Amino acid sequence: MRSFCLLILSIFVQTSFSLFLLGKRHGETSLNYHLKRDFYGTKRNIIDDYPYLQVHNFTQKLDHFDAYNTETWNQKYFYNPIYSRNNSIIFLMIGGEGPESGHWAAFPEVQYLQWAKEFGADVFDLEHRFFGDSWPLPNMDTSSLRLLTTQQALEDLAYFIISMNKKHNFKNPRWVTFGGSYPGSLSAWFRQKYPELTVGSVASSAPVNLKLDFYEYAVVVENDLKITDPSCSSSVKTAFDSIQNLTLTSQGRNSLNEIFNLQPKFNKNTTKLDINNFFGNLFNVFQGMTQYTYDGQRNETHFDLSLRSMCNIMTNSTEPDLVKRVHNLFLWYNKFEPASDDLSVMPNSYWDVISQVGSGDLKVLGPDGAAARGWMWLCCNEIGFLQTTNQGSNIFGSGVPLNLFIDMCTDMFGDTVDVVKIRKNNRRSQNFYGGSRHYNVCIYDWCGPGS
Ligand SMILES: *[C@@H]1O[C@H](CO)[C@@H](O)[C@H](O)[C@H]1NC(C)=O
Ligand SMILES: *[C@@H]1O[C@H](CO)[C@@H](O)[C@H](O)[C@H]1NC(C)=O
Ligand SMILES: *[C@@H]1O[C@H](CO)[C@@H](O)[C@H](O)[C@H]1NC(C)=O
Ligand SMILES: *[C@@H]1O[C@H](CO)[C@@H](O)[C@H](O)[C@H]1NC(C)=O
Ligand SMILES: *[C@@H]1O[C@H](CO)[C@@H](O)[C@H](O)[C@H]1NC(C)=O
Ligand SMILES: *[C@@H]1O[C@H](CO)[C@@H](O)[C@H](O)[C@H]1NC(C)=O
Repeated sequence: MRSFCLLILSIFVQTSFSLFLLGKRHGETSLNYHLKRDFYGTKRNIIDDYPYLQVHNFTQKLDHFDAYNTETWNQKYFYNPIYSRNNSIIFLMIGGEGPESGHWAAFPEVQYLQWAKEFGADVFDLEHRFFGDSWPLPNMDTSSLRLLTTQQALEDLAYFIISMNKKHNFKNPRWVTFGGSYPGSLSAWFRQKYPELTVGSVASSAPVNLKLDFYEYAVVVENDLKITDPSCSSSVKTAFDSIQNLTLTSQGRNSLNEIFNLQPKFNKNTTKLDINNFFGNLFNVFQGMTQYTYDGQRNETHFDLSLRSMCNIMTNSTEPDLVKRVHNLFLWYNKFEPASDDLSVMPNSYWDVISQVGSGDLKVLGPDGAAARGWMWLCCNEIGFLQTTNQGSNIFGSGVPLNLFIDMCTDMFGDTVDVVKIRKNNRRSQNFYGGSRHYNVCIYDWCGPGS
């Protein structure tokens, strides 16, 4: 699953993978994730290092929009009580499209946990339905995924808050929600929808415009590269130009086969989708590194795995061939990933990707595939956020068009999830939440239009 490059945009690394699949990091989505890796990538239980951290199951409702459905399931949450002074201020970190690792409730260095200490807050971190260890139903068939929606997720949060108030006997509780990237959007929408349950919301890097063609993501990556080092962004531009030129001839495609050790190789059967998938894999590296630069979740992203290191490789004059610099970056980036795959090989087939994530069977999907499928479902069925490179002129060329993702949606979820339905559902969601122009700012129990 190392080539999972479809789309993830997790911005704040809420879950390790909030990626909007391109930019998605792999190897992180294992069941009982918090038992598997700590900040330094060591396989151990996070609770050994942070004994004050509690892991619990919350009995959550299966379907909040069916009053007659009384079924429940176990939703995982973390609780950190050590900063609590008078049980009146409560912070809730919202889980996103991947497993919650517990880091966001445990690491004292994290900014909002420093605030928790300052204000004496209780801290909770709730995993998102259908991710990590939180399974409303034991499969990801499309009939089950109808329960994977942003509205169900917001209702999960509301019911959780109400239930914790009772369980912990919080009097006049003042809850504040936190989230980054997609969970940041949830944090913003939750405040709009349930102003009476919280006193505030922190929504970091949170897109609130639900659009299919989210080309702005690549624009931000490009700007970040320019700010880091202008000669770096021009190297990237020339490199992607050259790669695009190479994809146009069979001789060029042969050089790409060799430089990147593509498996399978480009050959007579190669289609446009394979080429787009290849560009998706490349863009993924730039996205992933940019998105997580200096983020506090992992030792690597805190230090080495950053835009600065990326630019050192992309401006490395010892390597005159810019295309090979991109390959050097790919190799270097993947060294940080815990996946056991052969790093020398770059997976290169659109249909291999689809066969990994097209099934609803959790055993077939594996943890990475499950997270990718869940995220794609949210994107295809509702939120869009599909991260393209082909709008206007940008340094990543035009290799990752919206069509790639639309095809992927249909190939993963069936013919009924076609472009017409994808557009319709996306517009409906945008109307439901209001987008950035109609976002309602809520202060205490008053809500009004934002600017
Ligand atoms: C939560 O429930 C799951 C089953 O849904 C179980 O495997 C897990 O051990 C439980 N975790 C805790 C902390 O009780
Ligand atoms: C709880 O603690 C906060 C911060 O120290 C303080 O402002 C507030 O007055 C306290 N509330 C109660 C009910 O003691
Ligand atoms: C790619 O091909 C175009 C058209 O032949 C050419 O103008 C451009 O210089 C080429 N770019 C690179 C980086 O080789
Ligand atoms: C192309 O596809 C055909 C039909 O699936 C297959 O028989 C052939 O071996 C493939 N060629 C290459 C070079 O992969
Ligand atoms: C964390 O990264 C820094 C910078 O590369 C390195 O010096 C340090 O040894 C790393 N810490 C651990 C425990 O891996
Ligand atoms: C620079 O390029 C050379 C030749 O490809 C390579 O051996 C070396 O590791 C590269 N250094 C960096 C920082 O990428």
